[in-house]
Amino acid sequence: MRRARHRVVRALVVALWGVAAIARADAPVLNIGHRGASAYAPEHTIPAYDLAIDLGADYIEQDLQLTSDGVLVVLHDGALDRTARGPAENCTGLVSEKTLAQVKSCDVGSWFNEANPDLARAEFVGLRIPTLEEVLRRYRRRIDYYIETKTPESADRMEERLLDLLRRYKLTKPAARRWQVLIQSFSAASLQRIHDIDPSLPLIRLVLGLGGSPALEDGLDAVAGYAVGVGPASAAITAEQISAAHARCLAVHPYTVNDASEMTDLVAAGADGMFTNVPDVLDGVLGAKRARPKRAARRAARAHAVCVKARR
Ligand code: G3P
Ligand code: CA
Repeated sequence: MRRARHRVVRALVVALWGVAAIARADAPVLNIGHRGASAYAPEHTIPAYDLAIDLGADYIEQDLQLTSDGVLVVLHDGALDRTARGPAENCTGLVSEKTLAQVKSCDVGSWFNEANPDLARAEFVGLRIPTLEEVLRRYRRRIDYYIETKTPESADRMEERLLDLLRRYKLTKPAARRWQVLIQSFSAASLQRIHDIDPSLPLIRLVLGLGGSPALEDGLDAVAGYAVGVGPASAAITAEQISAAHARCLAVHPYTVNDASEMTDLVAAGADGMFTNVPDVLDGVLGAKRARPKRAARRAARAHAVCVKARR
C-alpha cells in the first residue's frame, strides 16, 4: 500500500516537472531593450524607448538615479558627464547632488550625435533626462518595464519611491500577475528590501557571472528565495549554469547582447531573454520563436509559476 502510494507520488512529481519543462519550453525569449534601442538613439530617452518598442522589444529598461530633491530619474551613470551637455554647474558631477530642475536643464541627445555621426539626427539635440514618472505616464500599460535600482545604498529610500510610483500608476498587480514590471538590481539588499515590502513583485538579481563565489556570493538557492530570475553578464555563461538556474525556477536574462551569433548561442543554451541595444536584431534571430506583442511577459510569468508549483 505504502509502495503504491510512493509510486503515485513519484509519478505526480515527474508529471509536474514535465509540465514545468513544457511550460518553460513554451515560454518565449524576452527581448529587453537595453536603455531603449540605445544603439540607434540616445540611451534612456523617449526616442530610444519609442524605437525599442517599434523594433520588437518586449521590455524597455530603466536605470534609476535619485536627484538631491528626491525625484527618481532615468539615467545609467551616477555622474552626468558622459551623456549630459549644458551648464557645467548643472550638467557635470553626480546626479545625487543636483536638483530635478538642474538635471532637466541638460541635453542628453547631443553626445549621441557627436559619438555617432552616421546616426545623428537633429531631433536628438536637446532631449531631456526623463523622470521615471514621465516614462510611466507616457507608456502606462502599453509596454513592459524592466527597472534597475542603481547604487541604491546611497539613494535615500529608492525602493519605497519606486514602489510608490508603481502603485500610483496601477502597475503593482500587473507586475505580480504577468511580469509587466521586472525590478532588477546588482544589490541583493535592495531586492530583499523590495521583497520584504511586497513579496509578490518579480525581481531579477543582476550578477557578473553564474560561476559561484564571488560572482554570486549568496548562491542560486538564496536568490531563488526572493527573485524570479538572474541577469548575468553574457560572457562565459554556460548551458550548465543556465540549467542550474532553471532547476531553481530562476529565469536567466543575460546582458548585454548585440551580436546575432551570440544571441543564437544563448537561445540554444536556454536563455529566457536578454538585454540588447539592438532589439531588431534579436527580433530577427528569434523569428518564429518571438512572442506576439504583449504576450511575452505573461507567458514567462506563467512558466515561472508552473515551475514553482511543480517544485513545492
Ligand atoms: O541591467 C542589465 C544591465 O543593464 C546591467 O548593466 O551597467 O548597463 O546597467 P548596466
Ligand atoms: Ca541596467
